[in-house]
Amino acid sequence: MTVRGWVTHLRSSGKVAFVVLRDGTGVLQTVLVKNAVAPDVWERFSHLTQESCISVTGEVRADARAPGGYEMGLNDLTVIGASPLDYPIQPKEHGIDFLLDNRHFWLRTPRQVAIMRIRSEIEQAIQDFFYERGFLRVDTPILTAAIGERSGLFSTEYFEEGNAYLAQTGQLYGEAAAAAFGKIYTFGPTFRAEKSKTRRHLTEFWMIEPEVAFNDSEDNMKLQEDFVSFLVQRVLERRPAELKEVERDVTKLENIKVPFPRINYTDAVATLQAKGSAVQWGDDLGAEDEALLVADYDRPIFIVNYPKEAKAFYMKENPDDPRTVLCNDCLAPEGYGEIIGGSQREDDLEKILHRLREEKLPEAAYDWYLALRKYGTFPHSGFGLGLERTVAWIVGSQHIRECIAFPRMMHRLRP
Ligand code: 4AD
Ligand code: MG
Repeated sequence: MTVRGWVTHLRSSGKVAFVVLRDGTGVLQTVLVKNAVAPDVWERFSHLTQESCISVTGEVRADARAPGGYEMGLNDLTVIGASPLDYPIQPKEHGIDFLLDNRHFWLRTPRQVAIMRIRSEIEQAIQDFFYERGFLRVDTPILTAAIGERSGLFSTEYFEEGNAYLAQTGQLYGEAAAAAFGKIYTFGPTFRAEKSKTRRHLTEFWMIEPEVAFNDSEDNMKLQEDFVSFLVQRVLERRPAELKEVERDVTKLENIKVPFPRINYTDAVATLQAKGSAVQWGDDLGAEDEALLVADYDRPIFIVNYPKEAKAFYMKENPDDPRTVLCNDCLAPEGYGEIIGGSQREDDLEKILHRLREEKLPEAAYDWYLALRKYGTFPHSGFGLGLERTVAWIVGSQHIRECIAFPRMMHRLRP
């Protein structure tokens, strides 16, 4: 067989040598016996360095001691691309900033490979989940005139049209699509010019946003708990080796079963105050409050019906308590915090106009969105799941910056 890949380990006794290489699908240990190969092959081996790209030819045999259970007895070795000795990533502890500066190389290391494989598994599972349930995938624009969420906007000049903004959400377009197709989801990058340097904020992150005609807030939460438990189950089933590589305690993931507890915002505030938090009724919940709330549970929880002033203008007023809206956040256990924000949408034209004005949002930019309330308005609900936060929780990562191939943060635009 011939295998091509990059050298990860080299070892030699002078007569017998081992070259371990990685090709992205796994690692292969190859053995080279000085007396059994041509002198030029042995010579090429002696110049090999970590991360050289090579091609090896030989016979593969089962060997329980070898990583992956197989070993190759090597007959030939050629160098495709040599690598000088000063390869930045060495087998020692590196600081996180150094690793991020060298993300293009850091991605090659076993933990990062495992995280990216789990991310890809989750992305595939997301597609499968919605496809099997008859949802249509709708790709919404990244360049927009309308705005969606409250956090900062990235803007760019757009010909004669003034400013274009990078989408913070696909939701508003998703709502239009739900009236056309019934059940839809979006899957794309979203952008927030947030000056936050926390371990759960990126300026560019991927969001999955289903929107369903005729779903109320409770239906919306049922969809969320089915969705989240499906994703966890899928990773447990198909990525056990990668979960082991990242040293995830899988017993914690095995608990992720429906139903997820629903806790009213007002009760959550009382619980938090009893636990010593300074939170006041009306505030959105911060990361520390979220961690305090999930500490009592072994699975994700929903915090439902936040005060109007804490949430976006498009959420539907709660008929049982008009100070609040029909919405939920889904908080992941083990302190990972909010992974989903969702709500039933305000479908009453007068009420949503009133909220737009209260928030001092530019009405003209929302004309088409408001028209959805004029022509055949309909009850509907949806949510947004943050992909990197979900990956971070499932792999047990301390920071979402290692859960996307090339993270974008306030102070990071390279590589
Ligand atoms: O709660 P958010 O802001 O909700 C929306 O954007 C709605 N339009 C969703 C909808 O109803 N269709 O964001 C949703 C999720 C959050 O729960 C979080 O997981 C993630 O997106 N998120 C971020 N992830 C990484 N970095 C950031 N700066 C994020 N901001 C939000
Ligand atoms: Mg939110």
